[in-house]
Amino acid sequence: MKVVSLYNKVARNTTEINKPFAGLELTSIHNTCPYLADESSTKVPVHARTATFCDRLNTWIKMEFTVDKLGDKVQEAYTRIKSHVWKTPLMYSLYLSTEGQAEVYLKLESEQLTGSFKLRGAFNKLLTLNKKPDQLKRGITTASSGNHGLACIAACKACNVPLEVFVSEEVNPTKLQNMRHHGVKVTLHGHDCVDAEIMARQTAAETGKLYISPYNDVDVMAGNGTVGCEIHNDLPEVDYVFVSVGGGGFIGGIAAYLKKVNPKIQVIGCQPRNSKVMYESVKVGYIKHDESLATLSDGTSGDIEDGSVSRIQI
Ligand SMILES: Cc1ncc(COP(=O)(O)O)c(C=O)c1O
Repeated sequence: MKVVSLYNKVARNTTEINKPFAGLELTSIHNTCPYLADESSTKVPVHARTATFCDRLNTWIKMEFTVDKLGDKVQEAYTRIKSHVWKTPLMYSLYLSTEGQAEVYLKLESEQLTGSFKLRGAFNKLLTLNKKPDQLKRGITTASSGNHGLACIAACKACNVPLEVFVSEEVNPTKLQNMRHHGVKVTLHGHDCVDAEIMARQTAAETGKLYISPYNDVDVMAGNGTVGCEIHNDLPEVDYVFVSVGGGGFIGGIAAYLKKVNPKIQVIGCQPRNSKVMYESVKVGYIKHDESLATLSDGTSGDIEDGSVSRIQI
């Protein structure tokens, strides 16, 4: 069995960066979600035992776009952004393969420019906005826990577009420092990423700027989903893909593409135990504003915007 897990940097300190998954108590959305616990087999590792998270996700996406259409958008996005982002390595992990009794590969988005896959979504969004030069001149607001902010900074710089980033006061200090280092206005607001998102949306509405959501945006989802194109190109026979989930945009893009090229691929969402809003939302079938505690996986922590396009409906 072939497994790919997305690998991202943990920004707190260098010791943690060097230990894959150190301290991350990952909750597989599959494993314990009652709706999904229907395909158990003892032959695969415990964490990869059940059916797909993305089957549920796709159920909802079909309401607005067919799965095919989002998959197509991912494909188009890849052509659009290819020259602006790096193709990241897919690295075989002997340790995880031994532990998981499977052939496990890590998709090293940690090596992407700006340090995360978020650059893909940011570039795709900006490049699709190229046809609206007046809008771009007025500028953009966004909200982020750090990675999407850094990505927007790089993409806006390349496209010469003014940007303001909103972050929660709980933002990881290293990520805040990295963003401010680029001389972009970074405004702290509230104690959860959704507080920052609301403020960024409001500011955009008041100033005629455009708000770019880190996950609640189809072009951002499609751009981030291009990770799926590279996984498929490098390992077309992959069986399981594990994706970190915050607002659900990343897994939505990846799942739409992979399910289009091979419906048998199982895409599994993972969230930290301390902050599992999407996990709880999958269980009840609507966005459940669950409390988030501090977690090493700050990029996936926090609440989700109501009515998000990345929402999972069961
Ligand atoms: C490293 C990392 N992984 C996963 C995610 C989750 O992405 P999404 O909010 O699209 O689910 C984020 C979001 O910031 C992130 O920074």
